[in-house]
Amino acid sequence: MDTPFSLEGRVVIITGASRGIGAGTARAVSQSGGSVVLVARSADDLQAVADSLPGPNRVVVGAVEDPAVQAEAVAVAAELGDLWGLVNNAGISPAYAPTAETTDDDWDQILTVNLRAAAGFARAALPAMVAAGKGGRIVNLSSIAAFAGLPNLVAYNATKAALDAMTRTMAVEYGPSGINVNSIAPGTITTEMVQQMMDTNPALAEKFVSKTTIGRVGTVGETAWPIVFLLSDAAGFMTGQVMLVDGGRLAAA
Ligand SMILES: NC(=O)c1ccc[n+]([C@@H]2O[C@H](COP(=O)([O-])OP(=O)(O)OC[C@H]3O[C@@H](n4cnc5c(N)ncnc54)[C@H](OP(=O)(O)O)[C@@H]3O)[C@@H](O)[C@H]2O)c1
Repeated sequence: MDTPFSLEGRVVIITGASRGIGAGTARAVSQSGGSVVLVARSADDLQAVADSLPGPNRVVVGAVEDPAVQAEAVAVAAELGDLWGLVNNAGISPAYAPTAETTDDDWDQILTVNLRAAAGFARAALPAMVAAGKGGRIVNLSSIAAFAGLPNLVAYNATKAALDAMTRTMAVEYGPSGINVNSIAPGTITTEMVQQMMDTNPALAEKFVSKTTIGRVGTVGETAWPIVFLLSDAAGFMTGQVMLVDGGRLAAA
């Protein structure tokens, strides 16, 4: 059935697609009829995700902050058709410490992957989208961390707020070309790593759950399908926005 939620014939690059939300998004985009370019460093995991998809796909193995990888992803996307979408999903939060204990290395690492790489992918993808002349979509993975001062995650929080500023800027610049740019801001989502943390630390699990309004944390699918919406024609009049998908966590603040 043809609906405005369909991604039939649309080519989408997804960074950080070897696991977690990125892998779930690749699955949801593929199930919606889209063709997918998956990017991450873990070659075997990435290939396993690609092999599980129902539709056309390619993998690009490498670090998202590498301009050569950004260019390769756009070149490989062209093998599948005109580039329609980019999901800047790859993100890290390696440092867990109060602000005074963070190091320049922590900041450099987090800024490089969460922010500079997302800008680099957008810089690589936008000319191809504009040249195709059909419009397009960029979705940036923000977080409730952009709004809430989550302790011990100062650099991570700052990159997510900065991503949202980038979203608004690109939305204004590329709206006239029919390219909509939005952020999606998940709350706690049970990727493998988060689920493992919750399984081994019941107090932490209870903390995550108690902060939501609906009394549970979210699933990967509950982030991936809203991303499909943002990539689709159904979101045609939506740009420059940050869409919270947090089980009502910030509403309850
Ligand atoms: N899970 C949550 O609760 C949650 C909540 C709010 C926001 N988010 C955001 O959602 C996004 C995905 O999170 P997630 O929980 O799914 O993370 P995850 O399970 O840790 O997966 C991260 C993905 O990014 C890739 N990646 C990391 N650094 C990379 C690099 N330098 N180059 C290429 N790929 C890289 C990883 O692949 P390789 O290691 O194979 O490279 C992996 O595929 C992130 O931006 C995160 O901040 C997550």
